[in-house]
Amino acid sequence: MRILAIETSCDETAIALLEAQGDFANAELTVLGDALYSQVDVHREFGGVYPNLAKREHAANLVPLLVKALRDAGMYHEIEQPLSPEQVYALQELLTREPELFTQLISAVTLFAPPDIDAIAVTRGPGLEPALWVGINFARALSYLWRVPLIGVDHMEGHILSGLARETDSGALTIASSDVTFPVLALLISGGHTELVLMRDWLSYEVLGATVDDAVGEAFDKVARLLDLPYPGGPEISKRAQEARERGDTAPFSLPTPMHNTDDYRFSYAGLKTAVRYRLDEMESLSEKEVAAVARSFEDAATIPLVAKTQRALSAYTPGTLIVAGGVSANAYIREQIEHLVANEFPETELRIPPPRLSTDNAIMIGIAGYFRILAGERTKPADLIADGNATLDTPAS
Ligand code: KG4
Ligand code: ZN
Repeated sequence: MRILAIETSCDETAIALLEAQGDFANAELTVLGDALYSQVDVHREFGGVYPNLAKREHAANLVPLLVKALRDAGMYHEIEQPLSPEQVYALQELLTREPELFTQLISAVTLFAPPDIDAIAVTRGPGLEPALWVGINFARALSYLWRVPLIGVDHMEGHILSGLARETDSGALTIASSDVTFPVLALLISGGHTELVLMRDWLSYEVLGATVDDAVGEAFDKVARLLDLPYPGGPEISKRAQEARERGDTAPFSLPTPMHNTDDYRFSYAGLKTAVRYRLDEMESLSEKEVAAVARSFEDAATIPLVAKTQRALSAYTPGTLIVAGGVSANAYIREQIEHLVANEFPETELRIPPPRLSTDNAIMIGIAGYFRILAGERTKPADLIADGNATLDTPAS
């Protein structure tokens, strides 16, 4: 079956087209088209993601990305396709809150034939609600227009399932049960999330613990701002931290590693960021070397709880696979420390850190999760497809 997938939960606008086949035990997914627009340049000026700005950017970019993904997939067939007054009226109703998207959509869809797709998967949460709603309203509009069923997807499930996918030589993504030994543990680290999730079986999740305040990526971004480094701060801090580490430099103060030895799987990053702020307030303006030294000490402190809590979960649950995903998994030092931990203490566990295109926000992962939900017999009624900014993966006990 062919799935159109839409992701708009944060600051990436993404649309993918997947061809999917096989069951849970041997799913095979081919990416036919993948179009992604990152809003980082837009948000850089403000040093962070602004929900209403993100929403406006999603609304402005969804139609061009849809057309690009369809073209890439060879599924864009030009043919005059006038809409009936009823269709125009219905689309206007569905996109009342996105007038720009409505205008773009009606002029675009009159130019090509309805694509041959079987389902539309869209992120319903967690994320920024205004941003999520744009994707959902768009999905509902396309579902109405092309008479295709909808499936609402949890963004974090997308991260986990795409983390299980292997890329074959031909470029297809496969998820085979022979590759997966349950339980699977996932350390999800991004600008919005810091959590450890246990997957005991297909589509069954337990959130072992999450951050009680800021996400780790958010701490990287906020500390970067304190150091006058551009947004997103993760890569900037990482680069300077590496330089300081090579020189053997550290900050002239020590930093806390909040909650790293508590008896649970929770994290906390607000206090670490505040500590950096207080220490910096006490200092004169910093030289480049000093900035790098602070970046290094911050990165060291931020990594300790990630490693400690992952170690705790690995000991308690002996998972067959550990997935590390989310934008912060691109951090070389954090990767290295987790790799060390697994190689030295848990050699039986297979560590998987997906390539960046699957690790950071994308629509392919939404298509994968959508396919697995469809395999489980799920569909989402348009009226039930509601943005849930705080959605959690916890499978309710039955
Ligand atoms: O997963 P992602 O692309 O978007 C969401 O937040 O969902 O993650 C973005 C976050 C940002 O906070 C960014 O600073 C961080 O990932 N990041 C990094 C690195 N690259 C990106 N953090 C630390 N080191 C990096 N190399
Ligand atoms: Zn994400």
